[in-house]
Amino acid sequence: MSHNPLLVLEKIVKQFGQFRALDGVSLSLSPGEILGLVGPNGSGKTTCINVIAGLYRPEEGSVFFNGNKITKYSLTKMAHMGINRTFQVPKPFKSLTVRENLIIADQYAKRPHQPLEELLDFVGLTAYASREAGSLNSSQQKLLDLARALATGPSLLLIDELAAGLNPSELDKMAEKIKHLAESGIAILLVEHLLGFINSLTKRVIVMNAGKEIFEGDLESAAKNPEVNAVYLGG
Ligand SMILES: Nc1ncnc2c1ncn2[C@@H]1O[C@H](COP(=O)(O)OP(=O)(O)OP(=O)(O)O)[C@@H](O)[C@H]1O
Ligand SMILES: [Mg+2]
Repeated sequence: MSHNPLLVLEKIVKQFGQFRALDGVSLSLSPGEILGLVGPNGSGKTTCINVIAGLYRPEEGSVFFNGNKITKYSLTKMAHMGINRTFQVPKPFKSLTVRENLIIADQYAKRPHQPLEELLDFVGLTAYASREAGSLNSSQQKLLDLARALATGPSLLLIDELAAGLNPSELDKMAEKIKHLAESGIAILLVEHLLGFINSLTKRVIVMNAGKEIFEGDLESAAKNPEVNAVYLGG
C-alpha cells in the first residue's frame, strides 16, 4: 500500500437548506486500500459518495485527489480523472441491452480499462449481455452498475451498498471481486450495512452518525465503543 493518499477529505460540510447532511467529515484513502463507511440510515454515507463523485458540491471543506484540490469539479471531470461510483439504487438504461449500457459508459471513458467483454465476464453477466437491462433482477443490476463504473477506468471506486439483497454465496463472490479490484490498485470506499461483509474485506472502517465521523478503526473495536453502540441501539 502506498503512503501517499489518493483521496483526502478535509472537514466537508454538505447542507440541504439548513440541514447538515455532512457536518465536517475528514478521511483519507490510499491506492489499493479498502475503507468501510458504515452508520445508521440517514447518517450521510451516500451524501459523502455524492460529494466525492462530484454530484453534490460541498458548502465547506476540501476534496483532494492525487494531491490536487478538486472540491468543486463536475461529475464528468471527476469521472475523466478516475473517480466513479456505484449507485445505492442502480438506474441502467432499461430498454438497452446490458452490453449497450457498457458501450455508453465506454464512449464516455477517457482512461484505460479492461475490454467490455472482460468486464462482463468479471461481473458474471456474459450470458445476459444481449438482454435488456430492465429484465435483470436487482442484484444483477447492481453487478451491471459495477461494470458500468469500471468501464470508465476508475482509480477510486465508491461503492454504495452493493451487497444488499445478495445471498450468502453471491456475497462471497462479490467479496472476491472487490478484493481483486483493490489488489489491482484501485482505492475503494465501501458503504455497506452488512458488517460481516465489510469485516471480510477490511480492518479499517469509519462509523458515521448524523453527518459526523464518530469512530475510526476495526469493527471489533467499533463494537466495543459506547458511542457506536448507542447509535446502533438507538437507531
Ligand atoms: N438531495 C437531498 N435533499 C435533501 N435532503 C437530503 C438529500 N440527500 C440526502 N438528504 C438527507 O441527508 C441525510 C443523509 O442522507 P444519506 O442518503 O447520505 O444517508 P445514508 O447514510 O446513505 O442512509 P442510508 O443508509 O439509508 O442509505 C438524510 O437525512 C437525508 O434525508
Ligand atoms: Mg445511502
